[in-house]
Amino acid sequence: MHCIKKITADLTWVGANDRRLAMFEGVYSVPGGVSYNSYLLTDEKTVLFDTVDKAVQHRFFENLAEALGDRPLDYLVVQHMEPDHSAAIKELATLYPKMKIVCNTKTQTMLNQFFDMEIDSRVHIVKEKDTLHTGKHTLHFIMAPMVHWPEVMVTYDSTDKILFSADAFGAFGALNGAMFADEVDFAKDYMDEARRYYTNIVGKYGTQVQALLKKASVVEIDMICPLHGFVWRKNIQEFVAKYLLWGSYEPEEYGVMIAYASIYGNTENAAEILSSQLRDRGIKTVMFDVSVTPASEIVSAAFRWSHLVFASATYNAGIFVTMESLINDLVAHNIQNRTVALIENGSWAPASGGLILDKLEKCKNINILGSTLRIKSSVKAAQLSEITAMADALLATFPGTASRKTQDSPNVAEEPVIDLPTMTKLTYGLFVLTARDGDKDNGCIIDTVLQTCDSPIRITIAVRKVNYTLNMILKTGEFNLSILTESAPFRIFEHFGLQSGKNTDKFADINDENRTANGIRYLLEHTNGIISAKVIESCDCGTHKLFIADVVQAFTVSNEPSVTYQYYSDHIKPKATLPKEGMSGFVCKICGYIHESDTLPDDFICPLCKHGAADFEKL
Ligand code: FEO
Repeated sequence: MHCIKKITADLTWVGANDRRLAMFEGVYSVPGGVSYNSYLLTDEKTVLFDTVDKAVQHRFFENLAEALGDRPLDYLVVQHMEPDHSAAIKELATLYPKMKIVCNTKTQTMLNQFFDMEIDSRVHIVKEKDTLHTGKHTLHFIMAPMVHWPEVMVTYDSTDKILFSADAFGAFGALNGAMFADEVDFAKDYMDEARRYYTNIVGKYGTQVQALLKKASVVEIDMICPLHGFVWRKNIQEFVAKYLLWGSYEPEEYGVMIAYASIYGNTENAAEILSSQLRDRGIKTVMFDVSVTPASEIVSAAFRWSHLVFASATYNAGIFVTMESLINDLVAHNIQNRTVALIENGSWAPASGGLILDKLEKCKNINILGSTLRIKSSVKAAQLSEITAMADALLATFPGTASRKTQDSPNVAEEPVIDLPTMTKLTYGLFVLTARDGDKDNGCIIDTVLQTCDSPIRITIAVRKVNYTLNMILKTGEFNLSILTESAPFRIFEHFGLQSGKNTDKFADINDENRTANGIRYLLEHTNGIISAKVIESCDCGTHKLFIADVVQAFTVSNEPSVTYQYYSDHIKPKATLPKEGMSGFVCKICGYIHESDTLPDDFICPLCKHGAADFEKL
């Protein structure tokens, strides 16, 4: 039975999902399945955009028949010839003998290579900027070579402002009943798989992806229809921003990815000690045993993190097999712009470090940190200082590390610097505002930070008067802002925003001791930038106090997008508890607290988030 989805009045999804596929392209595990998207435009002419993989073509043909009804199929636009999208073309051509195949000349060649059927008399050849009028709709063809294969093109429907993007903007994962990215929590549940899809499928072709994005940037896009994964109709720019970042090979986040290949656990031991020491220095770490974790996940993580450590046993006088395969994969995917450190192990002739180094020399802009740390069989007490030195050397390459201190590694004090790109991370977002008074550290959540002047670099912040942090800033005249990102979980807002520092030590459970040059603490997790400022003026503003302050230090922590207030409301804040039937009262629009009463005094303050009566609405 057919299972189709209406996308617009004229456009229908006629694709299918596959949850039985073990390995996509024979290489990439797809535990969440995969969708093969095909779209039917029903205008004066009917136009099908691509077909599906042979594994799901039975459902596809049922879907197409249902969407067409008794109409013929006039055109098939072939945007990509990889068989996961083209397998059904021959049968389609048999079923709809008058159908014209719209494609470019490279596609025509591949059609003749893949299929034993008459092609040339059926094709309608298009090239860059050619158009096809189908009645109400005009389709524009844009060549996108190597946005996976050389023949790839994308199509822009200028009538409905839809970009049919071929493999670009796709993701692993079956659709599970949803069609649009805004129907699911994409950032939380699907972004990792979108990154794994991008890096492994088109990661090698970042330059070509950037070229396509540049071409597409001149047209208005209301919807993106990729060949895998969800259709995008909201927050398109957020996903495009991820593609711009991934295509540039710049890391998304500062942190260390440690990949190790260990035969009897001794190389793993060195990696564990290093990871532990990095965490003590407040640096985010992720670890992978390359013999266990699928390479596609590690390639994806390598694109995400700024620093990479490879620790490998020596095997047959070479690199351990699983590590060698991973390094080959990373080189093939064009990994670049990373800081790398190496650990090698060997009982009689350790050699893996130098051999990894030889391979990485093919990659652009790889900063190899110091010399390879060599282990002979197992880590000895005398070698702990070498691991500590590696942790310190990694720490020293992180931004804003001048005033980070650990018990065993006091950093050399440096003059604080203002990194200007950090200032561009300010949005109408959410921030952890921190201050210090004597031995007392405290922080709260604020939502208003504005850069008001660029010389000197000056900001204005608004702080609710009931906040304890406000009193500390009034006393000391100094504060820090940790700019929160979209990955920030609700617990951070709860921790810093929904309890008072008067009776709680909000830093009691935060193990890292990150402080900027002014000695004030800041958050490294789920932030993308840190700003330190000195107050020059304050003024009363009703419920809030405004501070005008000079920025004295700023540094970037990650390339993750800053969280906006809207993003917080849509994706992070738990939905308010539904009131019981018959309950009367007022609900706080900020935190969802329900005040059960027929009246709400004008001076009422929410006991959870401290917002006033103006932020409540009647149930
Ligand atoms: Fe989904 Fe490059 O094929």
